Amino acid sequence: MTSAAVGTDAPYELPWVEKYRPQVLDDVVGNEETIDRLKVIAKEGNCPHIIISGLPGIGKTTSIHCLAHQLLGPAYKEGVLELNASDERGIDVVRSKIKSFAQKKVTLPPGRHKIIILDEADSMTAGAQQALRRTMEIFSNTTRFALACNQSNKIIEPIQSRCAILRFTKLSDAQLMKRLLEILGLQVQYNEDGLKALIFTSEGDMRQAINNLQSTHSGFGFVNGDNVFKVCDQPHPLIVQDLIRYCVKGNIDRAMTQLNKLWDDGYAAVDIVVTVFRVVKSFDELPEYTKLEYIKEVGFVHMRVLEGVGTLVQLAGLVARLCKLNMKPAQFKI
Ligand SMILES: Nc1ncnc2c1ncn2[C@@H]1O[C@H](COP(=O)(O)OP(=O)(O)OP(=O)(O)O)[C@@H](O)[C@H]1O
Ligand SMILES: [Mg+2]
Repeated sequence: MTSAAVGTDAPYELPWVEKYRPQVLDDVVGNEETIDRLKVIAKEGNCPHIIISGLPGIGKTTSIHCLAHQLLGPAYKEGVLELNASDERGIDVVRSKIKSFAQKKVTLPPGRHKIIILDEADSMTAGAQQALRRTMEIFSNTTRFALACNQSNKIIEPIQSRCAILRFTKLSDAQLMKRLLEILGLQVQYNEDGLKALIFTSEGDMRQAINNLQSTHSGFGFVNGDNVFKVCDQPHPLIVQDLIRYCVKGNIDRAMTQLNKLWDDGYAAVDIVVTVFRVVKSFDELPEYTKLEYIKEVGFVHMRVLEGVGTLVQLAGLVARLCKLNMKPAQFKI
């Protein structure tokens, strides 16, 4: 199922994100269509140049490594050159290191190519990317490029046109849950609430979810909602839910008490606004119309906070408007 666990009596524990990094494409969750395409490539062997783009922590680097392992098998060590943002990747390196790797003779399984992995390729300078253009073409009979990046628009057009672009999307709650359960089941004490909190706080980012899980486990020994929110240092959605409920009832005093609680805990205005948004978005108790109006107001305040006005007064203004909105019944507004 998962990657081989390192001996438990090791002097220190590996970060779980590494310990449970998938080793084969079958273990990568989510983005089924894209992963299926990669599986076909892994089976047939004719790997095109590829760019995988998407948000952080959703399996881009992992998938490229799995693909390379599956394509090259034991020849992986010799047949793969990985350069990531921590390596020098200026024009000189493209000219020397990449070119000399591309020219190197390596014995590979029949029909396979050497692979150059350029991780975090969006951080390469435009000059270095320009230098890649012709190299990619000249050596394409022996060497294929696999690029991973967060924003594909940071990759210059000519390189994009030489590559198959695969986009990874954020992972859904169910997909996060599936992987977390595989990890949890092995060793961790948890409850349903804790699992939900992990998914809520990670927003589709698997790395974040696994890291938060490990921090909660090693910090508290038990993964429940409260502990997860303590570790993640995010406003607790239950407090925010209460705040919203009081707003719906138009009870400004109670709503302000909840807001002050969050403010006194030291949360930044932007954290509070973002949590309010996420709670409102997924709050079943709110009628559709109210939800829309609330999101609109939260959006305006978010904008102001990002412009630099992150004061309690702004947040209190938001609470006041949310309270007021519901004093006029929805039907009168249409
Ligand atoms: N789809 C997934 N299935 C299983 N585990 C995943 C998945 N995505 C991420 N992970 C876990 O998160 C860790 C980080 O994933 P990875 O390095 O592939 O992220 P990334 O998409 O390359 O992010 P970045 O853009 O920050 O480089 C992996 O070690 C793995 O444990
Ligand atoms: Mg990566």
